[in-house]
Amino acid sequence: MPSDPWVYVLDEQELCDSRPRVVRPRGVPVLLIKKKGEIYALTNKCSHMGCPLDCGTLTGFVLECPCHDWKYDIRTGVFLGAAEISLKAYEWRITEKRVFIKIEV
Ligand code: FES
Repeated sequence: MPSDPWVYVLDEQELCDSRPRVVRPRGVPVLLIKKKGEIYALTNKCSHMGCPLDCGTLTGFVLECPCHDWKYDIRTGVFLGAAEISLKAYEWRITEKRVFIKIEV
């Protein structure tokens, strides 16, 4: 029987606006970003050379990688320099103020 893909990661109140948090459901590095009341869940690995994005700079909805300055739109995960490149986005949900991320194994 397949296991439940929804993994609890943290309580909603632990997410502060514009302050990205790294969580690791089933060992997968996921960057959670709360921005203007919305939540975005993206891989924490840059599409360029894999640098962790949690040390990057968030300006509005644009996240800049700390290693070589690639910029991504957190709403879509798309790299601003080439639309065919994007960060993996994860589905998320909140149940009873607890945040879950869907991790397919
Ligand atoms: S690893 Fe992110 S821009 Fe190079």
